[in-house]
Amino acid sequence: MGKSFVDKLRDAVRLLLSDPKRFCSKSWGAFRSAFRVFQPMRADYRRRLDMTLREWLVYHHKNIVFDKCRWMGVKTLKNPLDTWIYQEIIFETKPDILIEIGSASGGSTLYFAHLFDMMGHGQVISIDIDRSTYGVKHNRVTEITGDSSSVGVIARVAEVCQGKNCMVVHDGGHRKEQVLADLACYARFVGSGSYIVVEDTVIDIFKPGDGVGQFYDGPLKAAEQFVESNADFVVDEERERYILTFSVRGFLRRTRPAESGS
Ligand SMILES: C[S@@+](CC[C@H](N)C(=O)[O-])C[C@H]1O[C@@H](n2cnc3c(N)ncnc32)[C@H](O)[C@@H]1O
Repeated sequence: MGKSFVDKLRDAVRLLLSDPKRFCSKSWGAFRSAFRVFQPMRADYRRRLDMTLREWLVYHHKNIVFDKCRWMGVKTLKNPLDTWIYQEIIFETKPDILIEIGSASGGSTLYFAHLFDMMGHGQVISIDIDRSTYGVKHNRVTEITGDSSSVGVIARVAEVCQGKNCMVVHDGGHRKEQVLADLACYARFVGSGSYIVVEDTVIDIFKPGDGVGQFYDGPLKAAEQFVESNADFVVDEERERYILTFSVRGFLRRTRPAESGS
């Protein structure tokens, strides 16, 4: 049986008289564990948690994304919160084919292929103009090498995607003109209810050179212009619910089937 309150009090008084230093340290420990909320937060964590969202994006851009972000050991240039959203979209919409424009090292390509492995359905078309860093081999991945908006590449994609429900992830050339050209070419492959995701729109809301920004007019401007002139697509803001996304206003959902040729 535990000690009664009176016994505990007696022990405490004895300790106070015999060893006041130990009494103080024991009492402080008991007080701290009883009132944990009053403990000062450790300074290193306080510094991290006091970061603004903007500071986190700059931190992630400067310190993580180009060097320390990997899927199964393969470099990928993603915001991990977006990869969770991709998983949700892909599971909900179950595309037959995901067309990835811009694969770089292929970490994102492999990630999509692994999601399809788990679902037991789906293929990835990886398009990139430069295969110098790409090293992925997977039976669900078809590589097409060349300029995403070139006639040859689009013809090859059309061949593979005929009659299929496709989703597009645009992470290729980020200049507005290139993104617009790609969106115009690839929208027709996207099935009703499925998505084109325009990546890295976030770089437009920062000023060029301030840590994240690259262009005043880049992917965000292109996505906005595309949606303005294309009533079949809407911005699905729910996919931005984690706030920290690379695809600001970039999750574009097709709301009705493509007319043939559109
Ligand atoms: C941002 S990286 C892709 C990152 C990758 N999706 C990931 O998450 O790890 C952009 C890639 O787009 C490719 N690219 C740029 N312009 C292109 C174009 N016009 N056609 C095809 N690929 C292009 C580049 O070679 C580069 O590998």
